[in-house]
Amino acid sequence: MRIAEFELERFFARWEFAVRHLLCASDVEGWPMAELVALADDETAALWRDLRLGYTESTGHPLLRAEIARLYEAIKPDDVLVFAGAEEAIFCLSNVLLEPGGHAVVTWPGYQSVYEVGQATGAEVTLHELRESDGWALDPERLIAALRPATRLVVVNAPHNPTGMLPSPAEWALVTEELARRGIHLLADEVYRFLELDAADRLMAGADAFERGISLGVMSKSFALAGLRIGWLATRDRALLARCAAFKDYTTICSSAPSEILALIGLRAREAILARSRRIVEANLDRLDRLFLDRADRLAWVRPRGGSIGFPRLLDEEPIDRFAERLVEAEGVLLLPGSRFGFPGNHFRIGFGRTDLPEAVAGLERFLEAG
Ligand SMILES: Cc1ncc(COP(=O)(O)O)c(C=O)c1O
Repeated sequence: MRIAEFELERFFARWEFAVRHLLCASDVEGWPMAELVALADDETAALWRDLRLGYTESTGHPLLRAEIARLYEAIKPDDVLVFAGAEEAIFCLSNVLLEPGGHAVVTWPGYQSVYEVGQATGAEVTLHELRESDGWALDPERLIAALRPATRLVVVNAPHNPTGMLPSPAEWALVTEELARRGIHLLADEVYRFLELDAADRLMAGADAFERGISLGVMSKSFALAGLRIGWLATRDRALLARCAAFKDYTTICSSAPSEILALIGLRAREAILARSRRIVEANLDRLDRLFLDRADRLAWVRPRGGSIGFPRLLDEEPIDRFAERLVEAEGVLLLPGSRFGFPGNHFRIGFGRTDLPEAVAGLERFLEAG
C-alpha cells in the first residue's frame, strides 16, 4: 500500500514533546495512573492485581466489550470489536469496505486517516467540505447528493475535529435514514462523544441509528486516557465486524493486556471520568470566550458545539504558518495551522482539553500584545 504522509502526525512528531504548551491538543488531560486505579471496583481491582501478561482475546476482553456495549442502546457485547486506538479501527474498516471502483464520502477538513486510508485502497473519495460561512454546519442535502451507486461508506465525525461541529438531531436523521434506505455503511466517528457542550445535543449513536451504522469510539478523548491506545467499533452488522477482525490479524492481533483492564476501570467509572473532562473543557472555554472577545481585532471563531477543539482564524495578513512558528519560538505555545489539514486560509486548530490552557493563552495574549 502506498499512502501519503499523515500531515498532522508528522507535525506532532516534531513538536508534541518539545514545546511548553500544546494549545492544539485534541485530547483531554490524561489521568494519572494511580488515580485511575483508585477508581476500580472490587472485580476490576482483582483483575488488575492478578493480571497475567499473556496474549489477550483478539476481539477484546469480554468484560470490556460488555462495558462498551452499555454506551449504546442497540448494541450487544458481540457487536463490539476492540482495537489499538481509533486509528487502527479506521485502518481496518477502510480496508475492508473500500477497494478500486468503490466510493466514499467523508467530512472535511478532518482527521486525515478517515479519507487517506480509503484513497490508498484505490477507492474514490469525495470530501464533504464544511464551510466557515455556514458556521461549519453539516449540509445533509449536499452530502446525500454526493452519493453514487458505488458508494460503500460515508464517514461523519461529530463532534468534529477540528471545527467542533455537531449536527442537529433532524440533520442527523436525514443522513442516517437516507443511508439506511440505500444500504450504505456509515462510520460515525464519535471519539468526542459525551463532550457536547449542551448534553441535550448528544446525537443518537451511529450504531443505534441503523443496522449498517458503525460507531467509532476510543478512550483517548472524552475519557482522557489516550495512553491506553484502546478504541473500538460497534455495529449490528456482525458479518462486517468479522471481516474487520480477520483484517486485524495483520495489524495488532490483540490489545495490550494492561490497557484493556485500565480501560474497563475507566468505563465503569465513566460518570467520574466524564465529569472531570467536562469540568476542564468548560473552564477552558470560558477562558477562550474572553480571549476571542478581547482580541476580536485579530482572531475570530465559530464557537464549537462539542468536543475539545475549535478552528478559529487569524485575521492578520501574516500567514498562519509563519505566525505559529514565531509564537512557538517566542512563547513555547503550539498552535496547529490549518495547512496541516490541507485547508486554505488562516485557520488554526486550538485545543481546550489541557489544564495548562490558562498559561498557554496568557502566552498567546502576550505575543499578540507585542506585535
Ligand atoms: C476525529 C478523530 N478520529 C480518530 C482519531 C484517532 O484517535 P486515536 O489517536 O486515539 O486512535 C482522532 C485523534 O485525534 C480524531 O480526532
